[in-house]
Amino acid sequence: MARNPNATPVPVERGSSPVVVTDSRNRQLRDLRISVTDRCNFRCVYCMPKQIFGRDFEFMERADLLTFEEITRLARIAVAHGVEKIRLTGGEPLLRKGLEELVGMLAALRTPEGREVDIALTTNGSALAVKAQALKDAGLKRVNVSLDSLDDATFKAVNDVDFPVAKVLAGIAVAHEVGLGPIKIDMVVKRGQNDQDIVPMAAHFKDSPYILRFIEFMDVGSTNGWKMEQVVPSAEVISAINAELPLEEVAANYPGETSVRWRYRDGGGEIGVISSVTQSFCHSCTRVRVSTEGKLFTCLFATDGHDLRALIRNGCSDEELSAVMAGIWRERTDRYSELRTATTNEIRAGKKKIEMSYIGG
Ligand code: GTP
Ligand code: 5AD
Ligand code: SF4
Ligand code: SF4
Repeated sequence: MARNPNATPVPVERGSSPVVVTDSRNRQLRDLRISVTDRCNFRCVYCMPKQIFGRDFEFMERADLLTFEEITRLARIAVAHGVEKIRLTGGEPLLRKGLEELVGMLAALRTPEGREVDIALTTNGSALAVKAQALKDAGLKRVNVSLDSLDDATFKAVNDVDFPVAKVLAGIAVAHEVGLGPIKIDMVVKRGQNDQDIVPMAAHFKDSPYILRFIEFMDVGSTNGWKMEQVVPSAEVISAINAELPLEEVAANYPGETSVRWRYRDGGGEIGVISSVTQSFCHSCTRVRVSTEGKLFTCLFATDGHDLRALIRNGCSDEELSAVMAGIWRERTDRYSELRTATTNEIRAGKKKIEMSYIGG
């Protein structure tokens, strides 16, 4: 295909190296996940437990955050290297003031072939009713909404800020009305906390426009007290649902999709399972993450990031930034979930893994 003359400038070494970069395990760079704030209005017990993220917790100062211009600059370079999907995360991304302005800036980016970039958002849904229309107007394509239970007592025990289910459902409905779909509902399943809600959640979202996904509780960060016994394997989730609402497996939407898709045999729609503990998907992981203050992480379970903000604020050129990002990706070896064993935990003892609230899943 001819190159679109209006595409964003491509500051890569076009003559000597391909636009698309592959890492040491032959995985292409395809997805960029950008955390826009480390703050959240929820205190989910497995993500931002109050004992740690309490009143005294020091969140980042405004001057430390990447500006929208800085984020867009990094995104433009990543898109020039093959990124086709940008996901905004947090913390809770809708807490970042003026987020729709950033969405608009990102939506203007084009791939080297001139295609639009898939701009998506992962949110707890609490502000969707208010913000969905403006986000859609700015160019956001779709949202994934976290919801761990339909039962108020269970949901409040998880979010720990007394937030009711009905408000999240209302936000999801508005997002659907304004066309931010297909909407995925992400449920982190933790044994002893919400595993009793697996079948009720499936039954509730069956025959709806929403795709419910069950996520295995992961050992991200160092504060959620993760234990293997708390993980409900996806195979167990599928067999519990299948016993009441018969299912069949469906092929992936795209290579490297996090979830394995299933559909109801009676045509009642689809669900997904994200099995990063029992069936890791590192072999096809095409994701890079940028933290709120501009560090580049090549794995959700990393302990260290590359400080791109320092380069940007020291006056680095697009060409230099581009070469740095490509170089980091080329050297990437990460496959944490594949290697997750007692040994990896030991090896990492003393080195703090990054928190989910910091990097946004
Ligand atoms: P789609 O673009 O809709 O396919 O979304 P997604 O699954 O890429 O994004 P989302 O933010 O909804 O992710 C859902 C969950 O999948 C996250 O909360 C994580 O638990 C898990 N997840 C996403 N990316 C990774 C990853 O690279 N590694 C691991 N181990 N888990 C991931
Ligand atoms: N394991 C799995 N998913 C998690 N999330 C947060 N912490 C964990 C964890 N330990 C999920 C949230 C949300 C997404 C951003 O990450 O529930 O769906
Ligand atoms: Fe906030 Fe999401 Fe973490 Fe819950 S899981 S505390 S909603 S960032
Ligand atoms: Fe990718 Fe790391 Fe998750 Fe594996 S553990 S899928 S390499 S982010």
